[in-house]
Amino acid sequence: MSGKRDDSPKAAAEPYSPPCQMHEADPAYFGYMTTEEVLGLLNTLLEGERAGVRAATALRKSAEAKDCTPLIRQVGEGEAWSCAMLDGHITRLGGKPSHAVGRFYEKFIAIEGLAGRLAFLNRGQEWVIRRLREDLPKIADERLRADLDEMLSLHVTNVAACEDAMRAMKEGGPI
Ligand SMILES: [Fe+2]
Repeated sequence: MSGKRDDSPKAAAEPYSPPCQMHEADPAYFGYMTTEEVLGLLNTLLEGERAGVRAATALRKSAEAKDCTPLIRQVGEGEAWSCAMLDGHITRLGGKPSHAVGRFYEKFIAIEGLAGRLAFLNRGQEWVIRRLREDLPKIADERLRADLDEMLSLHVTNVAACEDAMRAMKEGGPI
């Protein structure tokens, strides 16, 4: 027998399942997160960013932080932008934005002193960076991936700015 085709009745009767339909049915087929998993991630990030907004607001109100007001405002604005962006995508994807505030805020507010608070704030920001770097390649939705990439860049910039401020504080120079 020559050729690769099998024209036997058994082969003809086998159900045909085109790969494109499998892709439409399940993003996990190509290793992407499912919509449910994406929504879970976005709400976790949203709760963390909301905690970040509150932490930045608390810092701005403290007298000892008056020398680094521009830095704290920059961090707070980044957190607020992330909250609005995440909220928008969660709604667009058919989810319900969480209104909870991440436990990060409670821990943050229990810390005394500007240096300790800035260090803790940076630990939270670094967690976000790690999480985004890990999960970004698993997100199929291009609009969402672009916005999360922007959120990642904002966090990288703000972590570096906070590190500079903490170094200046240690050395006793201007922040
Ligand atoms: Fe953040």
